[in-house]
Amino acid sequence: MKSDEKAVASPSKLEDKTSDALSPKRIDAIIAKHLGKPGQLLGLLENLQSANKYKYLPKETLEYVSKKTKVPLSRLFSIVTFYAFFNLKPQGKHTIVVCRGTACHTKNSRKLLDAAMTILELVPEPDAEKIFLTTLDKEFTLKTVACFGQCALAPVVEVDGSVHSNMNQEKLRRVIGDIRAGGTAK
Ligand code: FES
Repeated sequence: MKSDEKAVASPSKLEDKTSDALSPKRIDAIIAKHLGKPGQLLGLLENLQSANKYKYLPKETLEYVSKKTKVPLSRLFSIVTFYAFFNLKPQGKHTIVVCRGTACHTKNSRKLLDAAMTILELVPEPDAEKIFLTTLDKEFTLKTVACFGQCALAPVVEVDGSVHSNMNQEKLRRVIGDIRAGGTAK
């Protein structure tokens, strides 16, 4: 799965938010946990992202990892831009991903995206097909993906890692309302 947004990213687009980054000591501990294991880079990057308060990989974290592991920054960057799972921008506490693939598009995913933006009071970006928006209170991030590979269940929306099939606006409103009320996405 590869997001549209990531296809056009470049190292210069990496977020550089010093205060969000993990301490070198913490990064060292995570590196030590993964080094020498199969799939070490993926596991390491995944672990670093989940340990970050805003669930993303700041530029300085990747630079530090590159220096410590001797893996070129360009290689790390190509990994984190290939997999949609990785984030180069700070994430809200909850993440909503609306599929904009063909099957979902024909089942009105555009309207779902518009509804989500209205519910979350987000202002659309100029290129409305490559959404990556976070609410001011950092509670929600709304983004799009090219395809979840579950086209038979279109339209598909993922909320906090749970895939919701045959989504409609009413269900989406309810799911977001439940999260705001302190529950979890059902
Ligand atoms: S197009 Fe939406 S899951 Fe494939």
